[in-house]
Amino acid sequence: MNVSDTPRIDQDALLEVEKRVCSYGDTVHYADKPKIFERCEGSYLYDVHGRAYLDLQMWYSAVNLGYANPAISNAIQAQMAKLPQLACQYLHREKIELAEMLCHSVERAFGLRGRVHFNVGGSQAIEDALKLVRKHTGRQHMLAYQGGYHGRTLGASAITSSYRYREMFGEFGDRALFLPFPYTFRSPFPGDARMTEQYCVREFEQLFEHEYTGAWNPRTGHSEFGALFLEPVQGTGGYVIPPPQYFKRIARICRDHGVLLVDDEIQMGFYRTGKMWAIEHFEVQPDIIVFGKGLTNGMNPLSGIWAREELIAPSVFGPGSTHSTFASNTLGTAAGVEVMRLFQRKDYDTLVREKGRCFLAGLREVARRHSEIGEVDGLGLALRMEMCESDGRTPSRRLADKMFQIGLEGDLRVDGETIGLILDIGGYYKNVITLAPSLEISDKEMERALAALEMVLVRAKAGTAANDER
Ligand SMILES: Cc1ncc(COP(=O)(O)O)c(C=O)c1O
Repeated sequence: MNVSDTPRIDQDALLEVEKRVCSYGDTVHYADKPKIFERCEGSYLYDVHGRAYLDLQMWYSAVNLGYANPAISNAIQAQMAKLPQLACQYLHREKIELAEMLCHSVERAFGLRGRVHFNVGGSQAIEDALKLVRKHTGRQHMLAYQGGYHGRTLGASAITSSYRYREMFGEFGDRALFLPFPYTFRSPFPGDARMTEQYCVREFEQLFEHEYTGAWNPRTGHSEFGALFLEPVQGTGGYVIPPPQYFKRIARICRDHGVLLVDDEIQMGFYRTGKMWAIEHFEVQPDIIVFGKGLTNGMNPLSGIWAREELIAPSVFGPGSTHSTFASNTLGTAAGVEVMRLFQRKDYDTLVREKGRCFLAGLREVARRHSEIGEVDGLGLALRMEMCESDGRTPSRRLADKMFQIGLEGDLRVDGETIGLILDIGGYYKNVITLAPSLEISDKEMERALAALEMVLVRAKAGTAANDER
């Protein structure tokens, strides 16, 4: 791709207009200098000059199969020509096929039967899961995790751990109780996964020890909480990977106390971690699975829940229980069916595991050269790089922020080409570079990614040192 000196659109003029007419309430202005992109393909976004930016976050893991994936684009174009629109009160072929494919996938993974209900966005599907739990258990309080993120609608905010997201919006009477997640690097037993697991299981267990924990009535055997909402690997929380046995132990406690398990796969589902459902790594059977993002490879918005038959059977969750105008839209379901077909055609279990291993080995090499990288870890192609001060422990948000900004500047010389780097930041201290490259990332792109990552880190270190002197 040639980099032209004359941008096809006047970027500065557009940015000026944006400042006047667009709300700052979304996440665009997290960046110092918001960026306009014009094109995307494979692992790359292209700016108005045609410059390529290697994307290591793929729209928060919505675009697992690469930008402008030809097979998915073709499926959408075919649907555009056939049935581009249809009110959701009527049925169409792809909706039924997609629901069946998802049900089969859950049955294969967990041996469970259930049904699928579609919606538009991830948060809305979370709301539907909340309704289902309320309906089934008659309880409106939920358990969730510190560091957990389930979206920003009102219901989803109430079970999302960050108070910052609720602070300006009044009372949330049904706010979840947030429990510690086994985050080994920052637990009271740093670096000790076994002790971290033990500590977090103990904290959970204690809720049900006697009636004065505020969670449980031993006389009636009722918990005040309807469900535990969990992300198998925390996404926004900084790609925190729990010890392998942890969820099995938690699931047992939940089952013994009538607390349902809601598995939020919105970010980690669809092979991000090397399994169709990330919870498969942990040998746990969920009651409800929530999905979104990767279902359509980030094309027409579509999300949904799968629930066990007894929770979602027509006799208990009847017509009109939940609805949104654009739920099960025909372009989204066409994309979804193609995504599921693509996942059936290749062995993504092996592919993602191998690519993930290779990427993580490269990250470990980089980490050996920079004490500011406190930890690198990964499950499949969900990888984390925790940025710290030079002691390797004190969280460094400013270093992570700098790396993010430098990547967006688009002037990294790698392999004789000038590119940019698209990064995302997560973590409890907003100091973790969360890496979610395309599942189709090539070996060459991976090499480039590692070189570019180290380059932005070196520059960020130099930059922050200079800032410190000012
Ligand atoms: C785990 C998880 N749950 C829920 C959501 C909310 O989804 P949406 O942004 O589509 O509303 C997200 C989005 O990042 C997520 O990562």
